[in-house]
Amino acid sequence: MLTGDRPTGALHLGHLVGTLLKRVELQNQFQTFIIIADLHTLTTKPNKEQIAGLKERMRQQVLTYLAVGLDPDKTVIYQQSRIPEVCELATIFSMLISVPRLERVPTLKEQLTNLHLDQVSLGLLSYPVLQAADILMVKAEVVPVGQDQASHLEVTKEIVQRFNNNYGRVFPEPQAIFSTEKILVGIDGQAKMSKSLDNGIALFDGPDQVKAKVMRMYTDPKRIRATDPGTVEGNPVFIYHDLFNNDKYEVADLKKRYRMGKVGDIEVKEKLASALNNYLQPIRDRAEKYRKADYLDDVLDSGSQTARNEAIKTLNQVRQVMGL
Ligand code: TRP
Repeated sequence: MLTGDRPTGALHLGHLVGTLLKRVELQNQFQTFIIIADLHTLTTKPNKEQIAGLKERMRQQVLTYLAVGLDPDKTVIYQQSRIPEVCELATIFSMLISVPRLERVPTLKEQLTNLHLDQVSLGLLSYPVLQAADILMVKAEVVPVGQDQASHLEVTKEIVQRFNNNYGRVFPEPQAIFSTEKILVGIDGQAKMSKSLDNGIALFDGPDQVKAKVMRMYTDPKRIRATDPGTVEGNPVFIYHDLFNNDKYEVADLKKRYRMGKVGDIEVKEKLASALNNYLQPIRDRAEKYRKADYLDDVLDSGSQTARNEAIKTLNQVRQVMGL
């Protein structure tokens, strides 16, 4: 199995319920690779100043993985740009797919609009080809990703078919596993918790920060007084209670009283803040234990070494079947 992220730094609760917990579970079933895709970051952020923070963000990323329970003895965590073979593989794959096909990949248009770009770099256009090389260099059979990555997985599958037909069967067709978790609402009630919207609770927020954020969370806008009956369904505060409060009796009681207008938002939020802090505490404790630059660098070094060995093996096989 292979999956991963571009190094964006601090991850939040949305990432946790969306993908991180799934990875922790899957690492016991599959030989697992987690890529930190720094080359992919360059497709939209190639400037020197943007690269400057990368190293520290990658450490944060490794720390987050370990803190949520990914185990470096089971899971290979590696840095994309330390595997030069992936670029050679991407070059070979780029001959197997057309420019118009890549121009139709929907994430390309989204990036152009979101980032107000007026031109597409060659690197951005071939983003999915590089991703195919990531996936195929370890011959991943299973790729757990968000629905937004579906079109990239389609490109990977097309490349696999064309490669195998042309040169001989080297690659398995990877299966995407899409996370079934719903997308987590932001604390502002917006559909999606997202770093760019600044509406998230980061996994490494401290207890006071968590409390402050919860206290200003969006709830039922139609409810003015604590004595007004409130709506529980779709209310972010209760969505979070359902997900993160282990005291199910407390949650049921709060819901009941909320519907009847017998509890104030303050109490609901204070209880959510403590539940969340309890939930996050083991993650914080693990982060405390692993938060040493040397250790995090070691994890990434040895992961990258292991990944590179896989890539070299695959590339040798590729060259051989192609007759290069
Ligand atoms: N494109 C993915 C994202 O933005 C990151 C990524 C790069 C990836 N290479 C990958 C994900 C290979 C899965 C497999 O989230």
